[in-house]
Amino acid sequence: MERTFLAIKPDGVQRKLVGEIIRRFEAKGFTLVGLKLMNVSRELAESHYGVHKDKPFFAGLVEFITSGPVVAMVWEGDGVIAAARKVIGATNPLNAEPGTIRGDFGANIGRNLIHGSDAPETAQSEIALWFSDAELVAWQPTIMSWIYE
Ligand code: RTP
Ligand code: MG
Repeated sequence: MERTFLAIKPDGVQRKLVGEIIRRFEAKGFTLVGLKLMNVSRELAESHYGVHKDKPFFAGLVEFITSGPVVAMVWEGDGVIAAARKVIGATNPLNAEPGTIRGDFGANIGRNLIHGSDAPETAQSEIALWFSDAELVAWQPTIMSWIYE
């Protein structure tokens, strides 16, 4: 089964959307295998968003992601990487479809509530960056046969 890294950003935590956001991934049928509330160090933020280091918004992005607690998560499921990105919605919440997290709760590209890995390679490297092996719990939900044929 595929795994992805998701993080509820400081705006999502401050706005008390943690439960609402987790509920959507649970209800979809994905399995939570890693979860922690944490403050993000500058080093971790710069590493996580390293691909954007030459972009004009990089400094502000690092400032924002280190500005308050973040909920870091690993979710598991068939096709979860791409599907979670659909649940999350377009990067700019103003372009995100209603029904997506960003479409329902966001109004600004710099406050888009949640991060999701964008490909298998980034999912693997982000999971390793944010979680140790011991923090990930492999388990088999007993309702699996009602979610998967
Ligand atoms: P994320 O990595 O956070 O899941 O978001 P994403 O894939 O949808 O978007 P990405 O292109 O990776 O951009 C990372 C984050 O940088 C901020 N951003 N600001 N001001 C801007 O033009 C701008 N562009 C991107 C957003 O917070 C975006 O989520
Ligand atoms: Mg991205």
